Amino acid sequence: MKLDFGTYHHASKEESESLRGELRDVFSSLLPTLFPPDSKINVLDAGCGLGFLSSIVGRVFRYSSVTGIDTFQDGSLAGSSIERAERNMKLLGLDDRVKFFKHNLVYPLPTDWNFDLIISNLVFHNMGKKRFDGYRNVFAALKSNGYFVVGDLFPYNSSDDRFFRSLSTTEKEIMGKGSGRWQYRIKVLRKI
Ligand SMILES: C[S@@+](CC[C@H](N)C(=O)[O-])C[C@H]1O[C@@H](n2cnc3c(N)ncnc32)[C@H](O)[C@@H]1O
Repeated sequence: MKLDFGTYHHASKEESESLRGELRDVFSSLLPTLFPPDSKINVLDAGCGLGFLSSIVGRVFRYSSVTGIDTFQDGSLAGSSIERAERNMKLLGLDDRVKFFKHNLVYPLPTDWNFDLIISNLVFHNMGKKRFDGYRNVFAALKSNGYFVVGDLFPYNSSDDRFFRSLSTTEKEIMGKGSGRWQYRIKVLRKI
């Protein structure tokens, strides 16, 4: 069985692999600027799919505990399943520190979940206005001064920024591929 993080909506398998190659480099350089690599941090991967970002964060922070949540049934990642995500982590030797749960981000997360870092890639832009419920639920599960690192397309960027300003400060913004409304960006937000 081979490692497979899936094929994104509107992209071929090769394009998905190539995008992940670029993002792997960016996230692997960015994350250690937020916490020392030997930190025992609790991390949430919101909309984890088959565990792409979970695997990066699990490798960067070797003592971290990572929780991945996803509906595992959205059309934006064909054939996604919790079993396939778990198989990927087993193949990478990360299965003791990365755990997955089915959860829809529009609903609140368990009240005892309290993360140092929340990461997400290409999830919220498909949620329409419900993304604000998703953002609210994510911030509720983040410790004060914790980071929400969200890589996505932000077709209504100024609305999202207005929302983020009410709960966080923007520490950094990295521009990626695309242009105009469909430019990929990574926002590093710090909860107030
Ligand atoms: C394009 S995929 C990206 C997956 C993964 N983050 C990655 O980078 O490979 C989008 C993911 O968001 C998940 N998703 C979309 N809406 C969601 C929601 N309301 N709650 C939880 N997950 C959701 C989908 O199931 C899918 O796995």
